[in-house]
Amino acid sequence: MARIDEATVRRINDAADIVEVVSDYVRLKKRGSGYIGLCPFHNERTPSFSVSKSRNICKCFSCGKGGSPVGFIMEIEQVDYPGALRILARKYGIAIEERELTDEERREASERESMLAVNEFAMRWFERNLQHTQEGRDVGLAYFRHRGISDRMIERFHLGYSLEKRDALRQEALRAGFTDEFLEKTGLIMRHEGGDISDRFRARVIYPIFTLSGKVVGFGGRTLRTDKKMAKYVNSPESVIYHKSTELYGLHQAKPSIVRKDKCILVEGYMDVISMHQAGIENVVASSGTSLTEGQIRLIHRFTENVTVIYDSDPAGIKASLRGIDLLLAEGLMVKVLLLPDGEDPDSFAQGHPSSEVERYIAENEGDFVQFKTDILMKDTGNDPIARSRAMTEIVRTIAVIPEMMLRTTYIAECSRRFGIGEELLTLQVRREIAARAERQAAEDRTRQARRSWDTAAGEAAEASAVPSAAQPEAAVQAPAAAASAAAPAVANRLAPYEREILRYVLRYGPLYLADMADEEGHTHPMSVIDVVASLLEQDMMQFSYPPYADTYAAARALMARSWPGYIARQRERLEAERESRLAAGREEIRQTAADMAEIERREQELQQSVATMVDDSLEEASRTFISRELGVDPDDTVRQVTLSLVSERHKLSKIHSKFSRVETERDRLVELVPMAIYNLKEAIIEQRLAALRDELRSRGSDPEACRRILADMGQLNESKKSLAAYLGERTITPRHHK
Ligand code: UTP
Ligand code: MN
Repeated sequence: MARIDEATVRRINDAADIVEVVSDYVRLKKRGSGYIGLCPFHNERTPSFSVSKSRNICKCFSCGKGGSPVGFIMEIEQVDYPGALRILARKYGIAIEERELTDEERREASERESMLAVNEFAMRWFERNLQHTQEGRDVGLAYFRHRGISDRMIERFHLGYSLEKRDALRQEALRAGFTDEFLEKTGLIMRHEGGDISDRFRARVIYPIFTLSGKVVGFGGRTLRTDKKMAKYVNSPESVIYHKSTELYGLHQAKPSIVRKDKCILVEGYMDVISMHQAGIENVVASSGTSLTEGQIRLIHRFTENVTVIYDSDPAGIKASLRGIDLLLAEGLMVKVLLLPDGEDPDSFAQGHPSSEVERYIAENEGDFVQFKTDILMKDTGNDPIARSRAMTEIVRTIAVIPEMMLRTTYIAECSRRFGIGEELLTLQVRREIAARAERQAAEDRTRQARRSWDTAAGEAAEASAVPSAAQPEAAVQAPAAAASAAAPAVANRLAPYEREILRYVLRYGPLYLADMADEEGHTHPMSVIDVVASLLEQDMMQFSYPPYADTYAAARALMARSWPGYIARQRERLEAERESRLAAGREEIRQTAADMAEIERREQELQQSVATMVDDSLEEASRTFISRELGVDPDDTVRQVTLSLVSERHKLSKIHSKFSRVETERDRLVELVPMAIYNLKEAIIEQRLAALRDELRSRGSDPEACRRILADMGQLNESKKSLAAYLGERTITPRHHK
């Protein structure tokens, strides 16, 4: 491949702005002096990918990947250095002088580049067939016309046609200097037994599949025959450049619209995507060819957290959407579902209605999964109690996959409303489901562990290489190795997520008043969030087990003991002075402008009110941010990282709630959420001990003395579990009436 001269390289490097470059792949949000987003290189739900505009670099604090614009492109596009330069040159409109490739250079080009080149060639050829051959026009183009696809969409999605002739593409490609090697590696040709070779796509309309950045990595080819024996679609095989589980059809074209609307619509097929685009709804992608995968969801999550699933209304479509919903929720996305009228799919619906109506129909009819599952499972069953209870069990099962407690409680509330069943009962069922899930997971882990210990040598080697290496010094947005993974435990610490939830409340709301609690003598005291957490943890002698969380919690406690009283006293003093001066200024103004005594009195009362509100609000704000502000600049890397990460975590409650009632915030519900988070941890600890005891019982089953002891311990734990569950139903602390 042609070399790029030094001057051009410099121009590209000068032009490439890290924020712009990364923004093509990651939704960035301003944070402090830089930007932050979800890391595109590993799976995460809270952003640790940070971008520094002034230094023109990016880095993930969690997995360590990142670098300059060129480095970032090399990593994310999996291209070599010249490949990355080319991509950036195209983005910034910088011309690169390229010679025709010599045979020598063509051989040297990397396998990947060659495969992309042959795909690009094939795509152009398929497009040309569609427009400029008799067969292509009569068969392919006529078909697209018949399906109502416009020329603009044909161009936009680079639709094409593959000729019927046995090896038409191969002949053409060989003539253009491509080799069988890469035609075969991309799957464009197939080698049959006995050695003869044919094209994979023959007499089919062709849908090229693009990566996010617009490279052709594969094709889908649809037959136009109605012959039942023939596969409807033939798709390119997995290859070095085509990983089906991490590509989404249409994403390249849909991305700008997904970002603009902060929403992604998920459909099933190629034609669904194209018809929706044609109807003006461009934020649409399809998982096409595979059922939805985690990798594809992560891809969506980079750009938005709002997904609407619109699958066909046939049983297969419904089954696929049910599965999709669980996966999407488990990845922390906000999911809506739209059920189309019977017999419709997104393609037929978009083709059959004016664009404005399609958009409106979606907006008016998309609903949450609780509604969707209820509708599906209770369809045609009237109000049959068995169907009802089955529907509820199903919904509870889905709620249990949602990682965020806050969001779970919201759906529990919705479910409770819908079925007229108490929230406590539903909460209990959800918790049971979560526990059962954790138990299954633990059992799986144990099996895996057991299997691994057979395989010692290999096992140890694998483990050793899994230990993260120290951060590289040149990876410049500095994150020391210890802190790098602090915010997101890579170690399998089952308790860490529960601890994380508690710690999050401490860091975000620690000093705020939570409730009055009674001491042993029955005297009640006002308690803050951090007081309540401390007291509930101490009650059962619990501690954080994940070291970064333990350190951060200890730092928060120490900070409160050391600096809080002085800080709050100073704030009070400051606000008292502020109150006085505002009142004085306000009174002065009223006296000068009011018409009579009655007006003076009325306006002075209003003034009192508004100043009091201002003082209360400022005090609350100053208190709320105290811990996060202090620990966010803590000299200890771990404490600082954990704090920044947990405090920046978005919570997703308001959107849903605003639909039903006033916007209720996490802060409003702390009095339920904080104790619940503690009980969740307690229960997880108990579950963990029970699992350990069960293991012990299994291995020491032949020793009756040991068995008796283990069983006794298990009995005790089961008792505590029961009383914990009962406890959860009651109110444990009494909230004072909040203003
Ligand atoms: P559909 O059968 O719904 O196809 O499969 P479609 O795209 O809507 O096609 P039309 O409307 O009949 O033209 C949905 C998706 O599943 C994959 C394709 O990606 C398709 O778009 N699929 C389907 C296959 O990969 N192979 C098949 O044989 C069928
Ligand atoms: Mn279809």
